[in-house]
Amino acid sequence: MVCLGNICRSPLAHGILQHKVDQRGLKAIIDSAGTNGLHDGEYPDSRSMEIALINGIDISYQRSRQIKRRDIEYFDLIYVMDSSNYNNVLNMTESEAEAQKVIMIMNELESGKNINVPDPYYGGEEGFKNVFEMLDKATDLIIEKHLS
Ligand code: 4NP
Repeated sequence: MVCLGNICRSPLAHGILQHKVDQRGLKAIIDSAGTNGLHDGEYPDSRSMEIALINGIDISYQRSRQIKRRDIEYFDLIYVMDSSNYNNVLNMTESEAEAQKVIMIMNELESGKNINVPDPYYGGEEGFKNVFEMLDKATDLIIEKHLS
């Protein structure tokens, strides 16, 4: 799961999917990272931790880190939150097979529409609730399509 800072959106995507995988006893290695590395080592944003906890999910174990080439090589699917993340991650790929791994997460719900998960960093708590709801739906479909 990839966003810009790896403190707001991708930690939520990571935590929600991890929670669903654990609940269902599925096997998958899930991680998240940011493209800019500006928040390396930091906890998720407190507003992300709060909306997760309200929904019964603890994401406080996560720490921000920057995406690296080895992530592109290692993971089968790389979900990005918006078109800017998409372009940044695509620039890191070195083959068509790697490029195919990179998916805008909301395209799991509405294929080809390229809907962004909006960056909630500068907004209020309502933005985080909206992000949670979008990612909750997207992660249900990820489980259905790729992990069931
Ligand atoms: P995120 O939100 O990409 O969802 O983690 C952001 C958090 C911090 C910054 C940008 C986006 N920042 O540049 O500080």
